[in-house]
Amino acid sequence: MGTATQIICALLLLGLAYYLPTHYIQDSKDGVHKKDKVEDGTSAGKADESLSFGPSRLRDGDNVRLLTKEELARHGPNGPDKPILLAVMGRVFDVEKGRDNYYGPNGGYNFFSGVDGTRAFVTGEFNEKGLIDDIRDLKPAEINELQVWIDFYDKEYTFYGKVIGAFYDKDGRPTEELTYFEEMKEKYVLFKKNEKAEQNQYPGCNSKWSEAEGGEVYCSSKSGGIHRDWVGFPRRLFSSVSREWRCSCVHPDNLGNPNLKEYPNCDPNSIRCQTKPPGKL
Ligand code: HEM
Repeated sequence: MGTATQIICALLLLGLAYYLPTHYIQDSKDGVHKKDKVEDGTSAGKADESLSFGPSRLRDGDNVRLLTKEELARHGPNGPDKPILLAVMGRVFDVEKGRDNYYGPNGGYNFFSGVDGTRAFVTGEFNEKGLIDDIRDLKPAEINELQVWIDFYDKEYTFYGKVIGAFYDKDGRPTEELTYFEEMKEKYVLFKKNEKAEQNQYPGCNSKWSEAEGGEVYCSSKSGGIHRDWVGFPRRLFSSVSREWRCSCVHPDNLGNPNLKEYPNCDPNSIRCQTKPPGKL
């Protein structure tokens, strides 16, 4: 479990550091990712069948406990009720076995105990403002991270029930917010697929910089890690949904793509473009 957690935390770090290029996908709000289908169902057996079910649902069948937030709070790091519980995306897990290391009074992650602090699992905002079950403005990659945490708790701890809140209504039925989560994950997967296809069609450029020669981007038959039998011309390739762009080596057949812009002061037929004049950065 230690290793698994460390991997998740490392992924989180990476995600936070590079803020994965997920702002490429945008919906009415920025969304999420996904790995396996997330679950969701209800204790009453009236699950929305369009949603898939994860292991916790299978384990507990239809006898899923439904807690209020107040009930959940009683299972915080200092009791009064046991076991210690925490919730992610409305799913409640018994984390009693992590009492000493993480979730009990002396645990370093005890702010997660007794609450649904879903948002903080990806923002790292471990305070009252951050430990909430509101995911609406999270980015697709962040929503993806939430699925990773759900899978983690499913694997390492025991599913206990569901908490009434943003993701389950008072009858234990999935809310619109949970559906949003599912949709965002689907979008993220699609986005990742498209991103890969786009990398092949529009490989990245090589770049170099020296004080004497300044900065330059240039194309080769291997640039962007895509081995091919053409070289292409450097262009700025803009995202269709944000102002982000990257340098791409463009095949002559694709030069008409409206998302492309030439580098200023660069011959459009050159395979290299100066991006910074010589001198110190
Ligand atoms: C959004 C940021 C983060 C969140 C939400 C988070 C969450 C957690 C949680 C919930 C645990 C306990 C897991 C369990 O029950 O086994 C944990 C453990 C741990 N975390 Fe993080 N973490 C974050 C960032 C980090 C960072 C930045 C580091 C290191 C630089 C880190 C290092 C660790 C380590 C070493 C453990 C203990 C692993 C073990 O010994 O089992 N975490 N983290």
